[in-house]
Amino acid sequence: MTDISVKIGNLRLKNPVMVASGTYGYEYADFVDVSKLGGIVAKSITLNPKQGNPPPRIYETPCGMLNTIGLENVGVEGFLKKKLPKFKKLRTKIIASIAGSTVDEYPKVVRRLERSGIDGIEINISCPNVNEGGMLFGQDPKTAYSVISSVRKVTKLPLIAKLTPNVGDISIIAKAVVEAGCDAISVINTIVGMAVDIEDRRPVLSMITGGLSGPAIKPIALHYVYSLYREVKVPIIGVGGIATAKDALEFIITGATAVQVGTANFINPKVSIEIVDGIKKYCVEKAVKKIGELVGSLKL
Ligand SMILES: Cc1cc2nc3c(=O)[nH]c(=O)nc-3n(C[C@H](O)[C@H](O)[C@H](O)COP(=O)(O)O)c2cc1C
Repeated sequence: MTDISVKIGNLRLKNPVMVASGTYGYEYADFVDVSKLGGIVAKSITLNPKQGNPPPRIYETPCGMLNTIGLENVGVEGFLKKKLPKFKKLRTKIIASIAGSTVDEYPKVVRRLERSGIDGIEINISCPNVNEGGMLFGQDPKTAYSVISSVRKVTKLPLIAKLTPNVGDISIIAKAVVEAGCDAISVINTIVGMAVDIEDRRPVLSMITGGLSGPAIKPIALHYVYSLYREVKVPIIGVGGIATAKDALEFIITGATAVQVGTANFINPKVSIEIVDGIKKYCVEKAVKKIGELVGSLKL
């Protein structure tokens, strides 16, 4: 028997496969046995509900998609009342994702979540800081540190900092969030991109730019995992273009303790379960007793 359970801080997942924030809801339980997942990262929530950006806010690109949803969400109270009770019935770990437009907003959201029965918190720092002219929290090591440490002060729940790739040197940000007390890092959020309609010569997306996700970004995400595995001591969660068990195993061998599947869920709602099964099969075939043996086993 192979043990494919993993630990992220104090959070034990039955397997290393989670689904990524913004790409999966409790509604999937109508089609899929979600109890087979390691965990679900819910859509990012803010202190107050947000309407998000106007359409068009999604566009398919070769091997991926662009989105500019603009963090549409029901707000923390709406999440606690309407969403969380449904998530809690799913017999898998539920990780809330939080976002904000000022540093102070983050701990306020966490205080409301603290005793709600969630299993962990992912902190989305890929959002604009209104007090810094719209610069993303995750683009400046000092601001990234402030967000994570302000949250760390108000909770003992496992904390995952989700990094943006839209930076010069991601390792400076990674070291700052680890120093601030997060238990793990998720690598990566979407990469900024755009598309143009040549008929009317306008940007396709309402906000001009959007976040690129899907297989197109996998090699980039994998490279970040590779370099950060050498730089930080906390577990790394690999995210970006994972669509098969082979993709997930590439991330694990490169240094990811766990992975998240995002855009691929839109194409095949069962894909994350198929990835769990594929990882188990690989471990049996390769006589891997504990999945930890694979993490960072890349031969150079
Ligand atoms: C439609 C959509 C909505 C997303 N919403 C969020 C979000 O609310 N919070 C977040 O941290 N990431 C969000 N993401 C980013 C994903 O969680 C993930 O980091 C990214 O898409 C890369 O993974 P993938 O290539 O497997 O999709 C969203 C992605 C998509 C495509």
